[in-house]
Amino acid sequence: MKEKLEKIKLQALEEISRAATSEELNAVRVKYLGKSGEISLIMRDMANVKKEDRPEMGKLVNELRGCVEGELVEKTKAVGELEKQARLKAEAIDVTLPTDKTAGTYHPLTLIRRELIDIFRSMGFSVDEGPEIESDLFNFQLLNIPKDHPSRDMQDTFYVSDKVVLRTQTSAMQARIMTKTQPPIRVVIPGKVYRSDDDASHSPIFNQFEGLAVDEHITMGDLQGCLTTFAQKIFSSDTKVRLRPSYFPFTEPSVEVDVTCSMCHGRGCRVCKGTGWVEILGAGIVNPKVLDMCGIDSKKYSGFAFGFGIDRIAMIKFGIPNIKMLYENDSRFLSQF
Ligand code: PHE
Repeated sequence: MKEKLEKIKLQALEEISRAATSEELNAVRVKYLGKSGEISLIMRDMANVKKEDRPEMGKLVNELRGCVEGELVEKTKAVGELEKQARLKAEAIDVTLPTDKTAGTYHPLTLIRRELIDIFRSMGFSVDEGPEIESDLFNFQLLNIPKDHPSRDMQDTFYVSDKVVLRTQTSAMQARIMTKTQPPIRVVIPGKVYRSDDDASHSPIFNQFEGLAVDEHITMGDLQGCLTTFAQKIFSSDTKVRLRPSYFPFTEPSVEVDVTCSMCHGRGCRVCKGTGWVEILGAGIVNPKVLDMCGIDSKKYSGFAFGFGIDRIAMIKFGIPNIKMLYENDSRFLSQF
């Protein structure tokens, strides 16, 4: 084990010193310190280390992590400065040129959010918004995710304090709405959410779109119909929807929802990785436990809920390869919409 740590250290430091751009450095960070990074996996594996060896191994792994983290920070700073200088030089603005008077354009996320709101309004949903700094109670506990429950690991949370988080899901608004409103409820909630996750398809900040309907006799059929209408309006009228069993603590049963790929219409392409289907959202029947916790009588009422990433819809619709492009606000990108 010791040798393994030493080997990882040498290898990581070597890769850091070889990395010449912040992109390469980020790749090294993800490889070693990301969610499934080599060092993170070793930390997760600690449970399997012999009990008497654990304190020493723990210390060594922490040292290793500290060392790699430290080097990454240093190098990222240095490389960032060089890149900044290069960019300033390359993108220098000639202030003597006539000014550009073209009008701005709407951000792709704004365009998609508005389209989504129109679609769901036409099906009788109202629109609500909620706080991005959220209490643990609404973000987790009332959604049947108690403290220390393993399902918390599904979402890498930024904690503001013990009881306050940057909301990891707009589902927090389900709990807020259900604790203050009795059915019938039909509402959608667009908004920013935060997770400690960072690669080509994940950004630490992203946008979700939540839907909630609670009434007498609501069934999975209603959910399926609603989502089919939504998918056909946002993508194309020949879009098909497929539900697969899944798990979320606050819905029971839970499903993951795929749509036929709007690029190739199900034939198979790069976007759908040849399968003809793309996964777009999580959904399910509101867990009766959640209804009861929020003060809605689960014997009388049932509901469905769904949630998806607005970013992902925008990426699929516009063929955007990297989620970061949505947050860099580079006008050369934005002016294409
Ligand atoms: N909140 C879930 C997520 O972020 C998605 C979801 C919403 C699932 C509503 C079921 C019902 O992954």
